[in-house]
Amino acid sequence: MDIVASGIRPTGFLHLGNYFGALRNFIKMQNENKCFFFIADYHSLTTHPHPSDLQTNVRNVLIDYIAAGLDPEKATIYVQSDVPQVCELSLLLSMNVYVGELQRVASFKEKVRRQPNNVNAGLLNYPVLMAADILLHRADKVPVGKDQEQHLEMTRDFAQRFNHIYQQEYFKLPVAYNFGNELVKIPGLDGSTKMSKSDNEASCIYLSDAPEVVRKKVMRAVSDSGPTEPGQPKSQAVENLFLLMKAVSTPDTVQYFEDQYQACQIRYGDMKKQLANDMIAFLQPIYERIQELRSKSDYISKVAREGAEKARESASKTVRDVREIIGFKAL
Ligand code: ADP
Ligand code: TRP
Repeated sequence: MDIVASGIRPTGFLHLGNYFGALRNFIKMQNENKCFFFIADYHSLTTHPHPSDLQTNVRNVLIDYIAAGLDPEKATIYVQSDVPQVCELSLLLSMNVYVGELQRVASFKEKVRRQPNNVNAGLLNYPVLMAADILLHRADKVPVGKDQEQHLEMTRDFAQRFNHIYQQEYFKLPVAYNFGNELVKIPGLDGSTKMSKSDNEASCIYLSDAPEVVRKKVMRAVSDSGPTEPGQPKSQAVENLFLLMKAVSTPDTVQYFEDQYQACQIRYGDMKKQLANDMIAFLQPIYERIQELRSKSDYISKVAREGAEKARESASKTVRDVREIIGFKAL
């Protein structure tokens, strides 16, 4: 049985990109593996959330997790900061990580470009803490979207380095994992190639969006003035509509609009109407469970408490082993 570990930062509600890139795989994997799924609240501190928002954000993501189908009876679901052993492992790993390699990480360089006023050491150290999340449970597989591939490579580097330095095959070398073989990237409604809450709220469909909100956002999605000759390549915005449709609609529906496009007869208004209906149908059961769970505060707290206990057990064992391997001994 493989060990699986993954998490999502609680920086708002979860969107369809998070669902198809990560959460859907969490749900599939929980049946046949030993899974640890967490809410990466330490990681979310790089953007300095207000203290009064932090708990709400964490709770909302936990609700989204369970509403989408994560089962606390099958997987260990926990809040990262409830398992502070991860900080110790992160510190210990960081001693063999070079500042230069962290500065070369694509996501770090992007943050430096985008938010030059907040290039904090937490951002630089982000891949080390992430490696600690994974190695803490000695995971084999990590379900993530395509944007996390480089972080996973670094996790393997750090694990291998540790094994090499201490001459022990202690850590396994975890791989990024997605059921459909390829890691997916769900585009935004604003023509951008990645649906992301950090970019543009209107480009995201949240799992908790009410049907009217979904419809409004989809109908406002960016398209173009339509193809004028057969075989014309699609613009990014129109390609995005097709990619989103592939995620939530039947293959027949996608094919119908593909044929319409190729025949230069496509009406984007009709396509969006269909896309909105299919998204709403897809989200309906999740949306309903979210509403239900919002009033079950005791249940949510219990899931977090029990998950933390199980995660701490696994984490303490790893940290104990690692301390021993490094050479810490009582005097
Ligand atoms: P965001 O980009 O909205 O801030 P996160 O970076 O917190 O989202 O992503 C959490 C998880 O969801 C990661 O595994 C990431 O790969 C996945 N993910 C996020 N956006 C997308 C997307 N548009 N397509 C596929 N996977 C995504
Ligand atoms: N870095 C991930 C993201 O931004 C979140 C994350 C933190 C994570 N720790 C992890 C994902 C460990 C997988 C495994 O989406």
